Amino acid sequence: MGTLDRLLRDRLAPAFAAVAGRPADPSLRRSQHADFQADGALALARALGRNPRDIAAEVVQRARLADLCKTVEIAGAGFINLTVADDAVAALLADMGRDERLGVKAAEVPETVVIDYSAPNVAKEMHVGHLPSTVIGDAAARLLDWLGHRVVKANHLGDWGTPFGMLIEHLLDIGEAEAAHELSLGDLNAFYRAARSKFDADEAFKERARNRVVALQGGDERTIRLWRLLVDESEKYFLAVYERLDVCLTEKDFFGESFYNDMLVPVVGELDRLGLLRESDGAQVVFPAGFTNRDGNPLPLIVRKSDGGFGYGATDLAAIRYRTRELHATRLLYVIGLPQRQHLEMVFEVAREAGWLSPPARAQHVGFGSVLGPDGKIFRSRSGETVKLADLVDEAVARATTLIEEKNPDLDEATKANVARMVGVGAIKYADLSSDRTRDHVFDWARMLSFDGNTAPYLQYARARILSIFRRGGVTPVRDLARITVTEPAERALAIELLAFEGVVTEVAESLDFHKLAGYLHQVATAFTAFYENCPVLRAEGEVRESRLALSDLTARVLGRGLGLLGIGAPDRM
Ligand code: ARG
Repeated sequence: MGTLDRLLRDRLAPAFAAVAGRPADPSLRRSQHADFQADGALALARALGRNPRDIAAEVVQRARLADLCKTVEIAGAGFINLTVADDAVAALLADMGRDERLGVKAAEVPETVVIDYSAPNVAKEMHVGHLPSTVIGDAAARLLDWLGHRVVKANHLGDWGTPFGMLIEHLLDIGEAEAAHELSLGDLNAFYRAARSKFDADEAFKERARNRVVALQGGDERTIRLWRLLVDESEKYFLAVYERLDVCLTEKDFFGESFYNDMLVPVVGELDRLGLLRESDGAQVVFPAGFTNRDGNPLPLIVRKSDGGFGYGATDLAAIRYRTRELHATRLLYVIGLPQRQHLEMVFEVAREAGWLSPPARAQHVGFGSVLGPDGKIFRSRSGETVKLADLVDEAVARATTLIEEKNPDLDEATKANVARMVGVGAIKYADLSSDRTRDHVFDWARMLSFDGNTAPYLQYARARILSIFRRGGVTPVRDLARITVTEPAERALAIELLAFEGVVTEVAESLDFHKLAGYLHQVATAFTAFYENCPVLRAEGEVRESRLALSDLTARVLGRGLGLLGIGAPDRM
């Protein structure tokens, strides 16, 4: 709810409650016919068996709206159309203009939020499939941090398990120095593939690999050292990719699967004491309530495999327990692809049954669909391989460089490089963030890099253009105007859009549906374009000029902040 709609709803709600004799939703929304409309009378009429227009009339009569609204009209079947008074808009905008935080208050009760995201696998390439998790998780971290929460970034690196047997044996075959060299080149897949093909073709190697897994799990010192070497080299590489992508994950955010190793035995012990552990085909499992397979049989979450090894599920259980008990997190976010939905729901349910996830603590799967190629299949390179994230960033920046050169050939080299990076990286991120995350979306260079439409370059350009108005006019907009007067329709439309910022941010902090913030920013930029076409700014005079400058400034700040929350930079000129 935005600043303005919250005010209106607070005035309407008591009137609706008085008419209904109980709390009733005013059902307020933006309107084509006025600034807002309240549709609550219709539902109420059905419930009370009365005429909706009569109810609307009674609500309007009881509601205290005179100071906020210019007109209040009952239309059609019983809609209440509200047009906000210019004075009210002017005052609210001035408040927003004075506020560093643009009307968005920090959380009254800050939470500890753990965000589980990115999570590539050691000695495997970070590919385009890791992009949504990395980008959405990063936006979540920035947004919740800005709202004053304590954010713990948990990069659940795949750094443990049976593949390490073959990886370590391959490392020994080629020598440590050569392995470190190969891995530092960033071609993790080649290393993995070489290990894999020996494993598949060579029985003796396979045997060594199996023994190596046992040594690793047994904590053999030399084996652990070699494992660490693989992890360190991969981490270095991942950090370089994060840096290129302008993602705020650092070295201290790696909480790989191995981090939870010591907790696995206690976790299983606790599940056993709680009476939750069952035996199934030699494995130790938990049957969380409410999960059945197609035949209606209960579905197990495997905790300990029949060979004694712990599974992916055990690690996730240990992680939940650690996050609520040790970190005292009350909100756990899992930015993981939708195919893992059932796994996560089962982990959450087991954790609830074990008492590791009880209110106020809650877990939320921030799921996302796949990145598809133009052919509608999983996005791959022309040779049919998965696309390396690092290559993707390079290509984006290269394409952006060409675009920027065409658009503004006068930029000096350093500025150009900087702008190209923000535009290229921003375009990739925005493509992920601006589409409904639960749907698959097509990776489309031309669309994401377009200066038109719902894209990062469009928003970045809109903001840079506003700053260029100030440069051209040699003015610094005043941020503490007593009132920002709006009179023209395009001006009003922009003003009301800006006042919605707070509501959008608050909603997205809960839903993590970043496409709503993206769509909102796009609306703001579009509203600004209409305003700028219809209302002279630098050529206006006196109070009108001041107000329009302030309105432009607010627009630039909302765009800059909004993009920043999405993890996207905004150049001052481009
Ligand atoms: N490493 C896993 C993968 O690449 C993702 C891990 C997600 N996080 C988790 N807590 N399970 O599929």
